[in-house]
Amino acid sequence: MQVQIFSSSSAAYDVLILPVSSGKALTNAGQEIDAARKGVLTQILEKADKFKGDKGQTFYSDLNGDEQYKGVLFFGLGEVQKLKTLDFETCGAKVFTAVKGKGKKVAAALEGFAEDRSVAAMAEFANGARLKSYRFDQYKTKTKKDDGVDVFAVIGGKDASLASNAYKEFAAVTDGVFEARDLVSEPANILNPVSYAKRVKAMFKKLDVKVKVLDDKKMEKMGMGAIVAVGKASETPSRMVLMEYNGLGKSSKTPEAAFVGKGVTFDTGGVSIKPGAGMEDMKFDMAGSAAVVGLIKALAGRKAKVHVVGAIGLAENTLSERAYRPSDVLTTYSGQTVEVINTDAEGRLVLADTLSYVQDEYKPKTIIDLATLTGAMMVALGEQYSGTYTTTKKLYHDLERAAEATLEDVWRMPLHKAYDKQVNSPIADMRNLGTSRYGGACSAAAFLHRFIEDGTEWAHMDIAGVAWWKADTTFVPKGATGYGVRLLNQFVADRYES
Ligand code: BES
Ligand code: ZN
Ligand code: ZN
Repeated sequence: MQVQIFSSSSAAYDVLILPVSSGKALTNAGQEIDAARKGVLTQILEKADKFKGDKGQTFYSDLNGDEQYKGVLFFGLGEVQKLKTLDFETCGAKVFTAVKGKGKKVAAALEGFAEDRSVAAMAEFANGARLKSYRFDQYKTKTKKDDGVDVFAVIGGKDASLASNAYKEFAAVTDGVFEARDLVSEPANILNPVSYAKRVKAMFKKLDVKVKVLDDKKMEKMGMGAIVAVGKASETPSRMVLMEYNGLGKSSKTPEAAFVGKGVTFDTGGVSIKPGAGMEDMKFDMAGSAAVVGLIKALAGRKAKVHVVGAIGLAENTLSERAYRPSDVLTTYSGQTVEVINTDAEGRLVLADTLSYVQDEYKPKTIIDLATLTGAMMVALGEQYSGTYTTTKKLYHDLERAAEATLEDVWRMPLHKAYDKQVNSPIADMRNLGTSRYGGACSAAAFLHRFIEDGTEWAHMDIAGVAWWKADTTFVPKGATGYGVRLLNQFVADRYES
């Protein structure tokens, strides 16, 4: 869907979208449109009993015989003075849902609709609508759904050009969200570690991001025994991709923060094979990496004033005579050894080498990793929150604040030496599976913690429950959510840019 922001337009549209505040009050712009139609809109509003102009309400009516619009969709704002960024985004998303299926070209007349906040509010509204418009249907050759909106115009009057500039920032972030959703939606025969690395390299050619790809041979030589082992069985072996974005210029030598993602392009479980039912879901096991790619794309796209690095560990966990197996002892890039108890606990192995390499190479003060790491996390928190482990209260606090502003929720989980004890091995430095049946997400976090150097501020976000949703939510049509992009973009803006 294309968002266009004009000062005025005499083109014909399928639907006119009009804001209404509490008590069904039209804006000045709305009143002008109404007057030109001899009060038809006011009459429709008067007849709509249930529609009161409350925040989030919508009401649609045909406009018989109107020369410019086939129908009108009113949406409620409630008390406009009280609304914030998230409210306008939410409004936009709700309006998109209500207008979907009513026409290909729609226009929202928003001039002055949020009083002195109208410029930003228009951008936020348009962004909310676009977030909800996402679809992934490129593999449907016959029955593509025909209810999409092609053009979403915002008519902004004198504020249009400022609103259009403000919108560009939001659009860059949403481009990042869509990139993440696309990557997660791709099936595993299309997106494998090799094609994924190529795609990232190509994507950032146009943006100011330095991309480095380590292939399996190089990683093997460098001593990355864990990520290489996980991808060993696959025809498309492991890759690590580093994406450095420096929006601060020469004054900044090292990135302030690193974002690290699990990129298992398909997780069969390997020799410790998963049950067949539902295994197709495991194409999403690279959602952490997709969030990192989307985030870097968002930051570079909006030219954020920050220096960061993204690192993704890519591997396909599958079966062949070359597969790694339970009982194997792997030597990681950190030098620490790991006894493999279960080849399905592969994410932590991929992340171990990626985390170590990032610290070694870039020395960031702060690291945040994202991973669809454990089913146990879903058992604990369901599909609403990512389980977020942090070494400092401050980091959790900053993430929580960003979560509240983006509707990408976090919930704090514990790092405790009791979980750490559970990953000791009698024959190696550690094992890749906790000894207890319980608290699997926490022992996984404890395992990762062993690869974080003292003094590095670290967060681990287990996103197993939030990376893919089976039903629509405010900004997310069902499917890949793109969780993490908006959240971490907000975190970066709050923490490093203001
Ligand atoms: N990718 C899975 C985690 C997962 C499972 C996410 C189900 C979402 C839904 C991960 O690699 C895995 O298989 N974890 C195992 C760990 C176990 C072997 C310790 C799990 O959660 O069962
Ligand atoms: Zn697994
Ligand atoms: Zn996995």
